[in-house]
Parts: sequence; structure tokens; C-alpha cells
Amino acid sequence: MNEKVVELLNAQVNKEFFSAYMYLGVSQYYTRQNLPGFASWYMIQAQEEQEHAMKFYNYLVDNDVLVELSQIIPATSDYKDPLAAAKAADKHEHYITAEIEKIMDAAVKDKDYRTQLFLNWFITEQEEEERNSKDMIAKIEMIGNDNKGLYMLDKELGERKG
Ligand code: FEO
Repeated sequence: MNEKVVELLNAQVNKEFFSAYMYLGVSQYYTRQNLPGFASWYMIQAQEEQEHAMKFYNYLVDNDVLVELSQIIPATSDYKDPLAAAKAADKHEHYITAEIEKIMDAAVKDKDYRTQLFLNWFITEQEEEERNSKDMIAKIEMIGNDNKGLYMLDKELGERKG
């Protein structure tokens, strides 16, 4: 595999683990706001991100690359309000999409068809991730300052299984 492609794939292992960390911070924020449904929803997100990290990790290992396990940057649990937490998650997903597209660009440039095929799953996944985070913002904005609405949404989000 091309050096640049390897470097970007390796960096993505770290970024996906950071995503898990970031969602854990969001989940903890909601726990502290007495919103267990939101907290559970974002905890599931955090678990998914670990799976994403492991997909990148395993792809590299399967291609005989020694994966560098670099330091993960700290994540916050401190948000102004539920909307701010949801917006931070949405912003992060757009960042991740852009990072995955950068890897795809490098793979295309290098005619690395195997990596392109591998990345296709993530391109599709990011479309879903962005849609989910956008929907979350829309729902919270719709509720506004209505505590009953927030309670109902929390109940709905708590039903997510995976
Ligand atoms: Fe790993 Fe939420 O994208």
C-alpha cells in the first residue's frame, strides 16, 4: 500500500477512537442532565465508533501494516445545552466525512482499488451519520423550551437498540 494511504488510514484509527471518546463525553453530558434516553443513544454511537476504529485497524493489520496507536486527544462533557451537544456531534461527523474523503482521494490517486472498496462502506455510513445528527438537531429545535417534549424525545431515544 502507498505510504500516504497508509498514513491516512492509520490516522483514521485514532480519529475513530476519538469519535468514540467524543460521543462518550456527549453521553455523559446528557446523563448529568437527567436525560438517560439521550445518554443511551450517544453511548450506542460511542460503541459504533469503536467498531469503526477496529475496521480501520483490522484492514491495516490484514495488509501487513504495523498500526501506530497514537495518543487520543481529550474530549469534553461540558456543553451549554442539549442543542449545543447535538450540534457538536453533527460538526464532528462532517469533519469525519471530510477525513474519509481525503483517504479516498489518496486511494484514487494511487489506483488503490482495494482501499477504495474498503472505504465505500464508510462513505455510505457517513451519509447515515450526518442524516442522524441533522435529524437530532431538528428534533431538539422543534421542542424548544418545552420540557414535556424533551421528556418524550428522551423516552423515544432510549428505545434505540443498536
Ligand atoms: Fe465513525 Fe460517526 O463516524
